[in-house]
Amino acid sequence: MSKFYITTPIYYVNARPHIGHAYTTIACDTVARRQRMLGADTFFLTGTDEHGQKIERAAQAAGKTPQQYADEISAEFRKLWQRMGISNDDYIRTTEPRHKKRVQELFRRIRDNGYIYKGTYTGQYCVSDELYVDGAQPGDPCPTCGRVTETVHEENYFFKLSAFQDKLLALYANPDFIRPETRRNEVISFVRSGLRDLSISRSTFSWGIPVPDDPRHVIYVWLDALANYITAIGFGSSHAGAQEAFKKYWPADVHMIGKEIVRFHCVYWPAFLMAAGLPLPKAIIAHGWLLFEESKMSKSRGNIVRTETILDVLGADALRYFLLREVVFGQDGSFSFDALVQRYNSDLANGIGNLASRTLTMINRYFKGEVPYPSHAESEKPAHGVVRDKARMVIAECSQAFTDYQFSSALESIWIRLISTVDRYIVENEPWTLGEKQDDESRSRLATVLYTSAEALRIATALAHPVIPDATARIWEQLGLGDIKKFNLNTLTWGQLPQGTKLGEVSPVFPRADKSAIERMQQMEEQQRGPAVEESPTSAAPAAPAPATAAPPAATPAAATNHEGKITIDDFAKIDLRVGLVKVAERVPKSDKLLRLEIDIGTEVRQVLAGIAEAYAPETLVGRKVVIVANLAPRKMRGLESNGMIVAASLEGGKPVLASFLEDVPVGARLK
Ligand code: MSP
Repeated sequence: MSKFYITTPIYYVNARPHIGHAYTTIACDTVARRQRMLGADTFFLTGTDEHGQKIERAAQAAGKTPQQYADEISAEFRKLWQRMGISNDDYIRTTEPRHKKRVQELFRRIRDNGYIYKGTYTGQYCVSDELYVDGAQPGDPCPTCGRVTETVHEENYFFKLSAFQDKLLALYANPDFIRPETRRNEVISFVRSGLRDLSISRSTFSWGIPVPDDPRHVIYVWLDALANYITAIGFGSSHAGAQEAFKKYWPADVHMIGKEIVRFHCVYWPAFLMAAGLPLPKAIIAHGWLLFEESKMSKSRGNIVRTETILDVLGADALRYFLLREVVFGQDGSFSFDALVQRYNSDLANGIGNLASRTLTMINRYFKGEVPYPSHAESEKPAHGVVRDKARMVIAECSQAFTDYQFSSALESIWIRLISTVDRYIVENEPWTLGEKQDDESRSRLATVLYTSAEALRIATALAHPVIPDATARIWEQLGLGDIKKFNLNTLTWGQLPQGTKLGEVSPVFPRADKSAIERMQQMEEQQRGPAVEESPTSAAPAAPAPATAAPPAATPAAATNHEGKITIDDFAKIDLRVGLVKVAERVPKSDKLLRLEIDIGTEVRQVLAGIAEAYAPETLVGRKVVIVANLAPRKMRGLESNGMIVAASLEGGKPVLASFLEDVPVGARLK
């Protein structure tokens, strides 16, 4: 029996699951289900990525320990996948002991093979992407997300990535390793431009897996996270069963990912594996982004759609079908409630749902619920042959499209070529008119029309099962065929529907949705869009952050002032004043007054420009706690974006004096 191992990325626990995450999971689930139907011994893995600075900060902002925080959000992902009937075989969390031990083993192997050395990293880092941004200068944005990068200066362990340039390029010669082609080309040109060694540990925070024999360092979160693909199936375990599983399933057949994490999967991951002397995954498939309101759906942009809303109103199959039919896999695609409901009605309720209910209802009515015998002479007529030929063609087309991960083409083939053809065929042959007649010829035609329709329905149902598992399992039962899971897709050919099969109980699988479905979903989403645990948007988000001078917080919004010049407590609460820690301070070239600061405000590090250069030497500020107005609109000064304002006493004719505290206060604490 062949094996098939497929993985989703493991999702960060700093955001609640949304339909962007569901998209990848649904695509993998579809592939896994299809592989099981083809008889492969399939292993489908998903899970959560729980370490690193990004999660540590998100937990801090939520007032929880990183472990509490990760436990809660990881459980939400798990619960959602269960509710959706996702068929994963395991769910890995990077905070589990099994994972931690095995990651340390991977680190050891790479080190023992001579690919790790100690050094010092000084450069820019994007916490949101957990990415070292080579060649960037302080204040530069992250090339991936656009957020301002942070300056990192610390002792690290380095991985000799540069030693793998040629080997990686040789690997990419196989056109199937990275798909689609556009992503492959990007990776090739990135690697050709030269690889620098990669820092694979961090020593300025502790939320991670300790480096073996040097626990002052934690392992770089991407090495930790990528390793899940092998730790979950038993790499590095001393148990015989786990070792067997690893031998059986590794290398993975497919890592499916979103396009923003291609470099980690196609460059770093194969290099780590080569360094450890392990086999490489067979393919990495990168899909595009799900857009909502014109931009990538993500929590920091505040434009997410919750999966639960769609499940409540239309069910999991509707979402699965919509995402895989509407978005060309590999490209970006838009989500809208209107389009979802329209697709649901046209393809599911009026398409396969209607085909099933009318075909099966007529078999019940005219043939007492038993699949009729088609007459041989009658079925040889071209009118019926059209459906049979289409069905044969669709079986072949669909198989190719699924193999190429072109889900939308596969579904297009089933719906446009097969289901529409059968719909037309039924209309043209009017079985309801034939059913009123009792002569032999009419009975024989009626039997053939209904057999042909039911057989086409069976084929469409089998082919669509991996995409819409619930509805197709029900149609299969209604066709009297039992459990669809037992059906082997390799055997699918025209004419297998046993004549005389007793139908199961017929009931509609996709009731029509009316217009109110759209409104209901929109309302449900609006109600949910209250304050969330999410990080606040930074410069990458459309409404980016704020300016800074050493002026006092006289920035009270004018609208908040009443006629006596007083404001209410609610007005004051609109100002997000927080304790920040200065991480980096330097003069802005050609300015006497301005300093450029990087300030940790608990949830993120902000670039702030402050007019305090005449009062404070930059080096005296690093490590100092200050008060920052965190929710001012961003402003550009001397070409640099300022995202916040430092609070200082503004003295008439004198230098500004920074507000500070006599007692120690935690970074990120709010002033109220
Ligand atoms: N934790 C890393 C992955 C580590 S894998 C070893 C990570 N996590 S994430 O939570 O940010 O999830 C990223 C993945 O979620 C994307 O690669 C993609 O599969 C999916 N998506 C999240 N938002 C998405 C869209 N708006 N559109 C499509 N997919 C999206 O990166």
